Amino acid sequence: MVAGATVAGAMVVDATVVEATVAGEDERSHVNGFNAKADKVAKEFDEFLDGVIEEHMNRDNRHENDEKDFVDVLLEIQKQETVGFPIERISIKALILDAFAASTDTTYTVLEWAMTELLRHPELHDMHYLKAVIKETLRLHTPIPLLLPGISTKDVKINGYDIVEGTQVIINAWAIGRDPSSWERPEEFIPDRFLNNAIDFKGHNFEFIPFGSGRRICPGILLAMQIDELVLANLVHKFDWTLPGGASEKDLDMTESIGLTIHKSSPLIAVANQWCF
Ligand code: HEM
Repeated sequence: MVAGATVAGAMVVDATVVEATVAGEDERSHVNGFNAKADKVAKEFDEFLDGVIEEHMNRDNRHENDEKDFVDVLLEIQKQETVGFPIERISIKALILDAFAASTDTTYTVLEWAMTELLRHPELHDMHYLKAVIKETLRLHTPIPLLLPGISTKDVKINGYDIVEGTQVIINAWAIGRDPSSWERPEEFIPDRFLNNAIDFKGHNFEFIPFGSGRRICPGILLAMQIDELVLANLVHKFDWTLPGGASEKDLDMTESIGLTIHKSSPLIAVANQWCF
């Protein structure tokens, strides 16, 4: 997701950069139409982002005390030149796209997996338990399985292995979340494991790092958790969920898709019934 955002960010900066990279890596992209599709998406995004910026710049009836959003703040920084160098419109577009791309797919995939697991394990008692359900979903269905690639800045020795400076490091958070030396019955969905302990996803418990850790940790944790908790709580509070056609929860396909973000291979289809009190 986020690496995708970087690629898309590059598209905004210069469509030829993407074209050169993609074509350089695989000339088939020209033949099979991938490049044409990438150009089309880049153009559409670019126009959309231009529209968002124009809309924010041309708001007539703004008051000093009106709440500001992310784009307002970026435009303000640009105007006041507070960062010590000029910020071009193209950089603002890349930043908006980055935040947009990094947040939507990840936050949504957690909801789909959590709903799927809740249909298989419908023992949700209260908000406290719902938070544990979300944590367990992040552990078992880590949305970004291989965190963003990093590069070691100096020679280090880890567990007896020499990692030289400049090595590309890819952290397998998916495998860490299922490591039997850290988790009992790691392949099972057991939210209770998070009930009476302080294990959190803020980057301090290295056995559980769905948002990464350290200086590059995801800056959107709070937003993501607020959205996921609020939406999930509303979905289960307002509706009684069943599977269509009398299907049983045992029929649910739990296969994962391959990609930067892990989705369900086949989308969850469930029926929302009004609660009858
Ligand atoms: C459940 C939802 C989310 C998950 C699982 C998630 C996960 C991640 C992960 C694993 C990284 C890379 C961290 C690393 O490599 O150490 C990351 C980076 C990032 N995330 Fe999230 N994220 C989520 C939601 C969000 C939201 C809502 C935003 C809102 C703007 C966001 C913005 C970003 C940005 C901008 C980066 C790049 C940070 C950098 O490179 O310095 N993410 N995220």
